[in-house]
Amino acid sequence: MFSTIIRALAALVVTTSAVFAADHYKQEITDYDFSFEGPFGTFDQNQLQRGLKVYTQVCSSCHGLKFVPIRTLGDSGGPGFSEDQVKAYAGEIEVFDRTLADGEGDYRTATPPDVFPVNNSVGAPDLSLMAKARAGFHGPLNLGIKQLLKGSGGPEYIASLLTGYTGEEREEAGSILYGNKAFKGGWISMAPPLGDDYVEFDDGAPADLESAAQDVAAFLMWTAEPKLAARKQMGLTAIIMLALFSVLLYLTNKRIWAPVKGTKDI
Ligand code: HEC
Repeated sequence: MFSTIIRALAALVVTTSAVFAADHYKQEITDYDFSFEGPFGTFDQNQLQRGLKVYTQVCSSCHGLKFVPIRTLGDSGGPGFSEDQVKAYAGEIEVFDRTLADGEGDYRTATPPDVFPVNNSVGAPDLSLMAKARAGFHGPLNLGIKQLLKGSGGPEYIASLLTGYTGEEREEAGSILYGNKAFKGGWISMAPPLGDDYVEFDDGAPADLESAAQDVAAFLMWTAEPKLAARKQMGLTAIIMLALFSVLLYLTNKRIWAPVKGTKDI
């Protein structure tokens, strides 16, 4: 009896420690401070515009955003483009239209309802929802408590990925892999896409690797959750309403029971 309990306890200790120690490959994720964190956080319009520029000039040659219509650049809470700016932006993009050339498909200039085109040729994943698909934070002890406080860390992961190249390269099955401290497993097939001053920002903000990586990560958070600010506002309104409702319920309850309890103050 006693030995069974001891054995069960020992098994429990072993499994729990295995679960806690099963920290995946030790990814190095920097905890950047983004404007959209916390209960009141919102997107920084200028940062979204800078991130869009990085995406357009650097990432879009390989990565598409197939769930993001170009017209949403004019939505409130986003990069805040005017209608003309959206049209001008779309006018610079070529999309493949299957309905053209008698069903053979052909390229044409994009219009605002089109999505950011996909480039299937290089095996680069779509980035529309990447900021939500990856988690930068798991801890402490893999319990995910940090995710509750700071979000899942998707944008932190993307920024850390872009800045996390070690400079090492190796060849595997004919393709080159690049050492990266943030990527699971440590080797990624995407060559370092971004560096210092690859883009020039209209608002004169610094375009060094660290800053540009955070800007494009923020932009990708917006593509993944364009209604983030509206969601937070709705949540806050709901909490205020519920708090008011609780007070009313408390007072009502007190009044209803007053005759039974014999309190004189009501
Ligand atoms: C030359 C083409 C190319 C360019 C340019 C490029 N990427 Fe990639 N990217 C890839 C490929 C290929 C992969 C798949 C890598 C893998 O799974 O090993 C990838 C993967 C990714 C991933 C997913 C990593 C994961 O966890 O699976 C992210 C995020 C990403 N890229 C972001 C970016 C951003 C942001 C830019 C622009 C600053 C960019 N990429 C520019 C080719 C590119």
